[in-house]
Amino acid sequence: LKSGIAQEYSFSSMAIESIQSKKVAILGYGNQGRAHALNLRDRGVPVVVGARASGSAWGRATQDGFNPVDVPTAIRQSDVVMFLLPDTEIAPVFHGAAAAFENQRKWVGFAHGFAYVFGGIPRLPECEYFLAAPKGAGSVLRERFLSGKGLATAFAVAPGSSPETRALAESYARVIAGNPAFLRETTFQWETEGDLFAEQTVLVGGVWELMRNAFETLVENGHPPELAFFDVCQELSATLDLFLKNGPQGMSEKISPTALYGAVTRGPRVLPPSTRSTMQKIFEEVRSGAFASELQKEVSSGSPILQQARKGFEKTLWQKTFESLKDVL
Ligand SMILES: NC(=O)c1ccc[n+]([C@@H]2O[C@H](COP(=O)([O-])OP(=O)(O)OC[C@H]3O[C@@H](n4cnc5c(N)ncnc54)[C@H](OP(=O)(O)O)[C@@H]3O)[C@@H](O)[C@H]2O)c1
Repeated sequence: LKSGIAQEYSFSSMAIESIQSKKVAILGYGNQGRAHALNLRDRGVPVVVGARASGSAWGRATQDGFNPVDVPTAIRQSDVVMFLLPDTEIAPVFHGAAAAFENQRKWVGFAHGFAYVFGGIPRLPECEYFLAAPKGAGSVLRERFLSGKGLATAFAVAPGSSPETRALAESYARVIAGNPAFLRETTFQWETEGDLFAEQTVLVGGVWELMRNAFETLVENGHPPELAFFDVCQELSATLDLFLKNGPQGMSEKISPTALYGAVTRGPRVLPPSTRSTMQKIFEEVRSGAFASELQKEVSSGSPILQQARKGFEKTLWQKTFESLKDVL
Protein backbone atom coordinates (compact mmCIF):
# COMPACT_ATOMS: atom_id res chain seq x y z
CA LEU A 1 0.00 0.00 0.00
CA LYS A 2 1.25 3.48 -0.83
CA SER A 3 0.28 5.36 2.27
CA GLY A 4 -1.08 8.84 1.81
CA ILE A 5 -0.47 8.95 -1.92
CA ALA A 6 -3.49 9.44 -4.12
CA GLN A 7 -3.57 6.91 -6.91
CA GLU A 8 -5.56 7.98 -9.92
CA TYR A 9 -6.61 5.31 -12.36
CA SER A 10 -7.96 5.91 -15.79
CA PHE A 11 -10.37 3.52 -17.35
CA SER A 12 -8.98 0.97 -19.76
CA SER A 13 -10.35 -2.25 -21.12
CA MET A 14 -7.23 -4.12 -19.89
CA ALA A 15 -7.99 -3.09 -16.35
CA ILE A 16 -11.47 -4.55 -16.29
CA GLU A 17 -10.65 -7.83 -18.01
CA SER A 18 -10.50 -9.80 -14.78
CA ILE A 19 -14.11 -9.18 -13.75
CA GLN A 20 -15.50 -9.36 -17.30
CA SER A 21 -14.64 -13.04 -17.52
CA LYS A 22 -16.62 -13.86 -14.34
CA LYS A 23 -20.28 -14.24 -13.59
CA VAL A 24 -21.31 -12.03 -10.67
CA ALA A 25 -24.16 -12.72 -8.22
CA ILE A 26 -25.51 -9.49 -6.75
CA LEU A 27 -27.29 -10.45 -3.52
CA GLY A 28 -29.74 -7.71 -2.56
CA TYR A 29 -31.15 -5.11 -4.93
CA GLY A 30 -31.32 -2.03 -2.70
CA ASN A 31 -29.31 1.14 -2.80
CA GLN A 32 -25.92 -0.43 -3.63
CA GLY A 33 -27.19 -3.63 -5.25
CA ARG A 34 -29.06 -1.87 -8.03
CA ALA A 35 -26.14 0.44 -8.88
CA HIS A 36 -23.56 -2.39 -8.88
CA ALA A 37 -25.77 -4.65 -11.01
CA LEU A 38 -26.53 -1.96 -13.61
CA ASN A 39 -22.97 -0.63 -13.81
CA LEU A 40 -21.55 -4.14 -14.20
CA ARG A 41 -24.13 -5.04 -16.85
CA ASP A 42 -23.40 -1.84 -18.79
CA ARG A 43 -19.73 -2.87 -18.96
CA GLY A 44 -20.58 -6.33 -20.27
CA VAL A 45 -20.18 -8.29 -17.03
CA PRO A 46 -22.70 -11.16 -16.70
CA VAL A 47 -24.87 -10.53 -13.62
CA VAL A 48 -27.43 -12.64 -11.78
CA VAL A 49 -29.52 -10.95 -9.06
CA GLY A 50 -30.22 -12.95 -5.90
CA ALA A 51 -33.24 -11.76 -3.91
CA ARG A 52 -36.07 -13.00 -1.73
CA ALA A 53 -39.46 -13.37 -3.33
CA SER A 54 -41.19 -11.69 -0.35
CA GLY A 55 -39.31 -8.38 -0.68
CA SER A 56 -39.59 -5.41 -3.03
CA ALA A 57 -36.08 -5.99 -4.45
CA TRP A 58 -37.37 -8.84 -6.62
CA GLY A 59 -39.85 -6.60 -8.47
CA ARG A 60 -37.35 -3.75 -8.87
CA ALA A 61 -34.74 -6.06 -10.37
CA THR A 62 -37.34 -7.50 -12.74
CA GLN A 63 -38.35 -3.98 -13.85
CA ASP A 64 -34.70 -3.29 -14.65
CA GLY A 65 -34.58 -6.33 -16.93
CA PHE A 66 -32.96 -8.90 -14.64
CA ASN A 67 -34.40 -12.33 -13.92
CA PRO A 68 -33.92 -12.59 -10.16
CA VAL A 69 -33.47 -15.97 -8.52
CA ASP A 70 -33.27 -16.97 -4.87
CA VAL A 71 -30.00 -16.41 -3.02
CA PRO A 72 -28.68 -20.03 -3.08
CA THR A 73 -29.41 -20.33 -6.83
CA ALA A 74 -27.58 -17.07 -7.54
CA ILE A 75 -24.56 -18.32 -5.55
CA ARG A 76 -24.51 -21.67 -7.42
CA GLN A 77 -24.63 -19.92 -10.80
CA SER A 78 -21.77 -17.48 -10.20
CA ASP A 79 -18.01 -17.07 -9.74
CA VAL A 80 -18.22 -13.88 -7.68
CA VAL A 81 -20.78 -13.45 -4.89
CA MET A 82 -21.38 -9.85 -3.82
CA PHE A 83 -23.26 -9.43 -0.53
CA LEU A 84 -25.19 -6.15 -0.83
CA LEU A 85 -27.59 -6.76 2.05
CA PRO A 86 -27.95 -4.70 5.25
CA ASP A 87 -24.73 -5.23 7.25
CA THR A 88 -26.40 -7.10 10.10
CA GLU A 89 -28.24 -9.42 7.65
CA ILE A 90 -25.13 -10.58 5.81
CA ALA A 91 -23.93 -13.19 8.34
CA PRO A 92 -27.34 -14.91 8.81
CA VAL A 93 -28.00 -15.02 5.05
CA PHE A 94 -24.44 -16.23 4.34
CA HIS A 95 -24.68 -19.00 7.00
CA GLY A 96 -28.10 -20.01 5.64
CA ALA A 97 -26.78 -20.28 2.08
CA ALA A 98 -23.25 -21.62 2.79
CA ALA A 99 -24.07 -25.04 1.31
CA ALA A 100 -24.70 -23.39 -2.07
CA PHE A 101 -20.96 -22.69 -2.36
CA GLU A 102 -20.59 -26.48 -2.80
CA ASN A 103 -16.90 -26.38 -1.76
CA GLN A 104 -16.10 -24.51 -4.98
CA ARG A 105 -13.62 -21.70 -5.33
CA LYS A 106 -15.57 -18.45 -5.52
CA TRP A 107 -14.84 -14.83 -4.71
CA VAL A 108 -16.93 -13.30 -1.93
CA GLY A 109 -17.29 -9.52 -1.97
CA PHE A 110 -18.75 -6.77 0.22
CA ALA A 111 -19.33 -3.02 -0.12
CA HIS A 112 -18.55 -2.45 3.57
CA GLY A 113 -16.18 -4.35 5.85
CA PHE A 114 -18.61 -4.58 8.79
CA ALA A 115 -19.82 -8.14 8.23
CA TYR A 116 -16.29 -9.43 7.52
CA VAL A 117 -14.62 -7.68 10.47
CA PHE A 118 -17.37 -7.89 13.10
CA GLY A 119 -20.28 -9.85 11.68
CA GLY A 120 -19.23 -13.47 12.21
CA ILE A 121 -19.56 -14.58 8.59
CA PRO A 122 -18.41 -18.06 7.52
CA ARG A 123 -14.76 -18.19 6.36
CA LEU A 124 -14.94 -20.79 3.60
CA PRO A 125 -11.42 -22.17 3.01
CA GLU A 126 -11.86 -22.49 -0.77
CA CYS A 127 -13.14 -18.89 -1.19
CA GLU A 128 -11.31 -15.57 -1.31
CA TYR A 129 -12.72 -12.38 0.16
CA PHE A 130 -12.60 -8.82 -1.16
CA LEU A 131 -14.15 -5.42 -0.68
CA ALA A 132 -15.25 -2.76 -3.19
CA ALA A 133 -16.61 0.21 -1.29
CA PRO A 134 -17.88 3.23 -3.22
CA LYS A 135 -17.64 6.51 -1.32
CA GLY A 136 -21.31 7.33 -1.59
CA ALA A 137 -24.85 6.02 -1.84
CA GLY A 138 -25.85 3.68 -4.67
CA SER A 139 -27.97 6.36 -6.37
CA VAL A 140 -24.91 8.64 -6.55
CA LEU A 141 -22.76 5.76 -7.80
CA ARG A 142 -25.17 5.11 -10.67
CA GLU A 143 -25.62 8.80 -11.51
CA ARG A 144 -21.86 9.43 -11.62
CA PHE A 145 -21.34 6.32 -13.75
CA LEU A 146 -23.95 7.51 -16.26
CA SER A 147 -22.72 11.09 -16.35
CA GLY A 148 -19.13 9.97 -16.99
CA LYS A 149 -17.81 11.46 -13.76
CA GLY A 150 -17.13 8.30 -11.75
CA LEU A 151 -17.24 7.98 -7.96
CA ALA A 152 -14.23 7.42 -5.68
CA THR A 153 -14.10 3.77 -4.62
CA ALA A 154 -11.86 1.87 -2.23
CA PHE A 155 -11.00 -1.79 -2.62
CA ALA A 156 -9.30 -4.35 -0.40
CA VAL A 157 -8.50 -8.04 -0.20
CA ALA A 158 -8.23 -10.21 2.88
CA PRO A 159 -4.68 -10.87 4.14
CA GLY A 160 -3.00 -13.73 2.26
CA SER A 161 -5.18 -13.35 -0.85
CA SER A 162 -3.77 -14.35 -4.23
CA PRO A 163 -2.66 -11.76 -6.83
CA GLU A 164 -5.60 -12.95 -8.93
CA THR A 165 -7.98 -11.86 -6.17
CA ARG A 166 -6.33 -8.46 -5.92
CA ALA A 167 -6.68 -7.99 -9.69
CA LEU A 168 -10.31 -9.06 -9.47
CA ALA A 169 -11.07 -6.68 -6.59
CA GLU A 170 -9.44 -3.80 -8.43
CA SER A 171 -11.23 -4.51 -11.68
CA TYR A 172 -14.61 -4.91 -9.91
CA ALA A 173 -14.05 -1.55 -8.18
CA ARG A 174 -12.98 0.07 -11.45
CA VAL A 175 -16.08 -1.10 -13.28
CA ILE A 176 -18.64 -0.03 -10.70
CA ALA A 177 -16.85 3.29 -9.98
CA GLY A 178 -17.17 4.43 -13.60
CA ASN A 179 -14.77 6.45 -15.63
CA PRO A 180 -12.66 8.27 -14.56
CA ALA A 181 -12.72 7.51 -10.84
CA PHE A 182 -10.31 7.76 -7.99
CA LEU A 183 -9.51 4.24 -6.79
CA ARG A 184 -7.56 3.55 -3.64
CA GLU A 185 -6.45 0.30 -2.09
CA THR A 186 -7.36 -0.04 1.58
CA THR A 187 -7.74 -2.81 4.14
CA PHE A 188 -10.91 -4.31 5.57
CA GLN A 189 -10.03 -2.79 8.94
CA TRP A 190 -9.37 0.77 7.70
CA GLU A 191 -12.46 0.82 5.54
CA THR A 192 -14.70 -0.45 8.32
CA GLU A 193 -13.28 1.81 11.03
CA GLY A 194 -13.11 4.91 8.80
CA ASP A 195 -16.65 4.50 7.56
CA LEU A 196 -18.26 3.85 10.96
CA PHE A 197 -16.26 6.56 12.71
CA ALA A 198 -16.96 9.16 10.01
CA GLU A 199 -20.72 8.58 9.90
CA GLN A 200 -21.01 8.67 13.70
CA THR A 201 -18.90 11.75 14.39
CA VAL A 202 -19.19 13.91 11.26
CA LEU A 203 -21.25 12.90 8.23
CA VAL A 204 -24.48 12.03 10.00
CA GLY A 205 -24.18 12.15 13.80
CA GLY A 206 -22.07 15.30 14.06
CA VAL A 207 -23.68 17.29 11.25
CA TRP A 208 -27.23 16.47 12.39
CA GLU A 209 -26.52 17.55 15.96
CA LEU A 210 -24.88 20.78 14.83
CA MET A 211 -27.64 21.72 12.38
CA ARG A 212 -30.51 20.82 14.73
CA ASN A 213 -29.08 22.70 17.70
CA ALA A 214 -28.24 25.80 15.65
CA PHE A 215 -31.67 25.77 13.93
CA GLU A 216 -33.50 25.48 17.26
CA THR A 217 -31.38 28.23 18.86
CA LEU A 218 -32.23 30.70 16.08
CA VAL A 219 -35.95 29.82 16.21
CA GLU A 220 -36.04 30.13 20.03
CA ASN A 221 -34.62 33.61 19.56
CA GLY A 222 -37.47 34.65 17.29
CA HIS A 223 -36.08 33.91 13.82
CA PRO A 224 -38.56 32.65 11.20
CA PRO A 225 -37.92 28.88 10.77
CA GLU A 226 -37.51 29.20 6.98
CA LEU A 227 -34.71 31.74 7.36
CA ALA A 228 -33.08 29.70 10.13
CA PHE A 229 -33.18 26.65 7.85
CA PHE A 230 -31.41 28.54 5.08
CA ASP A 231 -28.82 29.98 7.47
CA VAL A 232 -27.74 26.75 9.15
CA CYS A 233 -28.73 23.90 6.78
CA GLN A 234 -28.99 25.04 3.18
CA GLU A 235 -25.81 27.12 3.22
CA LEU A 236 -23.85 24.15 4.52
CA SER A 237 -23.89 22.66 1.05
CA ALA A 238 -22.26 25.71 -0.60
CA THR A 239 -19.75 25.96 2.27
CA LEU A 240 -18.73 22.35 1.80
CA ASP A 241 -18.30 22.90 -1.94
CA LEU A 242 -16.07 25.89 -1.17
CA PHE A 243 -13.98 23.77 1.21
CA LEU A 244 -13.61 20.87 -1.25
CA LYS A 245 -12.60 23.22 -4.03
CA ASN A 246 -10.14 25.34 -2.03
CA GLY A 247 -9.05 23.37 1.06
CA PRO A 248 -8.89 24.91 4.55
CA GLN A 249 -6.25 27.52 3.63
CA GLY A 250 -7.94 28.61 0.40
CA MET A 251 -11.30 28.79 2.14
CA SER A 252 -9.90 31.00 4.88
CA GLU A 253 -8.80 33.42 2.15
CA LYS A 254 -12.17 33.36 0.38
CA ILE A 255 -14.53 33.98 3.28
CA SER A 256 -15.05 37.43 4.79
CA PRO A 257 -12.92 38.61 7.74
CA THR A 258 -16.15 38.65 9.77
CA ALA A 259 -16.81 34.97 9.03
CA LEU A 260 -13.19 34.02 9.64
CA TYR A 261 -12.91 35.89 12.96
CA GLY A 262 -16.23 34.45 14.19
CA ALA A 263 -15.20 30.96 13.14
CA VAL A 264 -11.82 30.85 14.87
CA THR A 265 -13.06 32.50 18.08
CA ARG A 266 -16.43 30.66 18.38
CA GLY A 267 -15.90 27.34 16.60
CA PRO A 268 -13.72 25.91 19.39
CA ARG A 269 -16.40 26.93 21.91
CA VAL A 270 -19.00 24.86 20.06
CA LEU A 271 -16.64 21.90 19.81
CA PRO A 272 -14.26 22.34 22.79
CA PRO A 273 -11.02 20.33 23.20
CA SER A 274 -12.98 17.67 25.16
CA THR A 275 -14.66 16.78 21.81
CA ARG A 276 -11.38 15.18 20.83
CA SER A 277 -11.38 12.78 23.76
CA THR A 278 -15.03 11.95 23.04
CA MET A 279 -14.02 11.17 19.45
CA GLN A 280 -11.17 9.00 20.71
CA LYS A 281 -13.62 7.05 22.88
CA ILE A 282 -16.01 6.62 19.96
CA PHE A 283 -13.12 5.41 17.79
CA GLU A 284 -12.16 2.86 20.44
CA GLU A 285 -15.75 1.59 20.59
CA VAL A 286 -15.58 1.10 16.82
CA ARG A 287 -12.16 -0.60 16.84
CA SER A 288 -12.89 -2.92 19.77
CA GLY A 289 -16.16 -4.14 18.26
CA ALA A 290 -18.19 -2.67 21.15
CA PHE A 291 -20.27 -0.61 18.70
CA ALA A 292 -20.79 -3.64 16.45
CA SER A 293 -22.03 -5.80 19.38
CA GLU A 294 -24.33 -2.98 20.49
CA LEU A 295 -25.80 -2.75 16.97
CA GLN A 296 -26.21 -6.55 16.69
CA LYS A 297 -28.07 -6.54 20.04
CA GLU A 298 -30.30 -3.68 18.88
CA VAL A 299 -31.21 -5.55 15.69
CA SER A 300 -31.79 -8.89 17.43
CA SER A 301 -34.13 -7.21 19.92
CA GLY A 302 -36.37 -5.84 17.14
CA SER A 303 -34.52 -2.54 16.44
CA PRO A 304 -36.42 -0.30 18.94
CA ILE A 305 -33.91 2.57 18.72
CA LEU A 306 -33.75 2.41 14.92
CA GLN A 307 -37.54 2.39 14.62
CA GLN A 308 -37.84 5.36 16.92
CA ALA A 309 -35.06 7.18 15.03
CA ARG A 310 -36.78 6.59 11.66
CA LYS A 311 -39.91 8.33 12.97
CA GLY A 312 -38.12 10.68 15.35
CA PHE A 313 -38.07 13.71 13.05
CA GLU A 314 -41.60 13.42 11.62
CA LYS A 315 -43.28 15.90 13.94
CA THR A 316 -40.41 18.30 14.45
CA LEU A 317 -40.41 21.90 13.28
CA TRP A 318 -37.09 21.13 11.59
CA GLN A 319 -38.74 18.51 9.34
CA LYS A 320 -41.86 20.62 8.71
CA THR A 321 -39.70 23.56 7.70
CA PHE A 322 -37.77 21.34 5.31
CA GLU A 323 -41.06 20.13 3.77
CA SER A 324 -42.29 23.67 3.25
CA LEU A 325 -39.04 24.59 1.50
CA LYS A 326 -38.04 21.47 -0.37
CA ASP A 327 -38.97 22.83 -3.81
CA VAL A 328 -36.68 25.81 -3.40
CA LEU A 329 -33.63 24.21 -1.77
N1 LIG B 1 -26.08 3.10 1.32
C1 LIG B 1 -24.83 3.56 1.22
O1 LIG B 1 -24.60 4.75 1.13
C2 LIG B 1 -23.66 2.59 1.17
C3 LIG B 1 -22.43 3.04 0.71
C4 LIG B 1 -21.36 2.14 0.64
C5 LIG B 1 -21.55 0.83 1.05
N2 LIG B 1 -22.78 0.42 1.52
C6 LIG B 1 -22.92 -0.99 1.93
O2 LIG B 1 -23.67 -1.69 0.94
C7 LIG B 1 -24.35 -2.78 1.53
C8 LIG B 1 -25.81 -2.72 1.18
O3 LIG B 1 -26.36 -1.52 1.71
P1 LIG B 1 -27.59 -0.79 1.01
O4 LIG B 1 -27.59 0.61 1.52
O5 LIG B 1 -27.58 -1.04 -0.45
O6 LIG B 1 -28.81 -1.60 1.67
P2 LIG B 1 -30.36 -1.48 1.32
O7 LIG B 1 -30.62 -0.35 0.39
O8 LIG B 1 -31.09 -1.51 2.63
O9 LIG B 1 -30.67 -2.82 0.50
C9 LIG B 1 -30.60 -4.05 1.10
C10 LIG B 1 -31.12 -5.12 0.14
O10 LIG B 1 -31.03 -6.37 0.81
C11 LIG B 1 -32.25 -7.09 0.62
N3 LIG B 1 -32.41 -7.98 1.76
C12 LIG B 1 -32.52 -7.63 3.06
N4 LIG B 1 -32.59 -8.74 3.83
C13 LIG B 1 -32.51 -9.81 2.98
C14 LIG B 1 -32.55 -11.22 3.17
N5 LIG B 1 -32.66 -11.74 4.39
N6 LIG B 1 -32.44 -12.00 2.06
C15 LIG B 1 -32.34 -11.48 0.82
N7 LIG B 1 -32.32 -10.14 0.58
C16 LIG B 1 -32.41 -9.32 1.66
C17 LIG B 1 -33.31 -6.02 0.50
O11 LIG B 1 -34.36 -6.50 -0.31
P3 LIG B 1 -35.91 -6.70 0.14
O12 LIG B 1 -36.01 -6.25 1.58
O13 LIG B 1 -36.70 -5.87 -0.80
O14 LIG B 1 -36.11 -8.15 -0.03
C18 LIG B 1 -32.56 -4.93 -0.28
O15 LIG B 1 -32.63 -5.17 -1.65
C19 LIG B 1 -24.06 -2.68 3.04
O16 LIG B 1 -22.95 -3.50 3.32
C20 LIG B 1 -23.70 -1.21 3.21
O17 LIG B 1 -22.88 -0.95 4.35
C21 LIG B 1 -23.83 1.25 1.57
